[in-house]
Amino acid sequence: MKRNKLVFANWKMNLNFKDIDLLVRGILSRLDVTDGLNVVLAPPFPYLSKVSSLITGSQLELSSQNIFWEKEGPYTGEVSADMLLDLGCRWAMIGHSERRQHLLETNEMINKKVLSSIEKGLKIILCVGESFEQRRRKKTFESISDQLQRGLRGVSENFLPQIVIGYEPIWVIGSGEAASVDDISSVHNFISDELSNMFPSSKSLPRIVYGGSVNTANIEQISRLDNVDGVLVGNASMDCDRFCDIVMKVVK
Ligand code: PGA
Repeated sequence: MKRNKLVFANWKMNLNFKDIDLLVRGILSRLDVTDGLNVVLAPPFPYLSKVSSLITGSQLELSSQNIFWEKEGPYTGEVSADMLLDLGCRWAMIGHSERRQHLLETNEMINKKVLSSIEKGLKIILCVGESFEQRRRKKTFESISDQLQRGLRGVSENFLPQIVIGYEPIWVIGSGEAASVDDISSVHNFISDELSNMFPSSKSLPRIVYGGSVNTANIEQISRLDNVDGVLVGNASMDCDRFCDIVMKVVK
């Protein structure tokens, strides 16, 4: 079965109410999203509700950039799956390297977020990636394998269709230059093999998308690669024309 391609916009802690209003209206007016493609927008928490109302009735989908694993209670500053679902959010991004680095998220925390989100019916994008140092020391596969094994621990096969893996080499994020197609290809093939080994009887393995300085100049090359089911876009997703060009090139 042909898998839907996915384009995921990660706006991180950027933009304001007005910027987001203009950007989403622009995307809605330019994008005639076709079947076979998921386009997911991940604004900062305070703007989820705004984006949710703007995209109602369109084919665009909404994601948070983070989530907490408990249902409710004394967890100041955290946001639960039920709260996200209430806002029309159907996706959660989990384990982005910026959260691993600045908020000290561990694979164990990430695993709790994964399990609680999928049980609530959310789709998730689980981000994994190696640091420059790990790549230099030829530890890329070891590090990715560890993040997959520990991040997906205890996930039952029924939930795999709700899961997407985002491969993001850490040093490439925000650098303006994506990883080489050979590197992207070899890591995506590795992730695909690793998932097949982890879930040997599953017919529907998670999709794998690439992120890290995706732009209008490199998108064609990247999206043509085998085992690349789409892209996770940071900087270039905050410009309506660049983002829509990327989406249309992934559809082709
Ligand atoms: P970038 O960010 O496209 O700006 O490199 C990607 C990401 O961090 O998700």
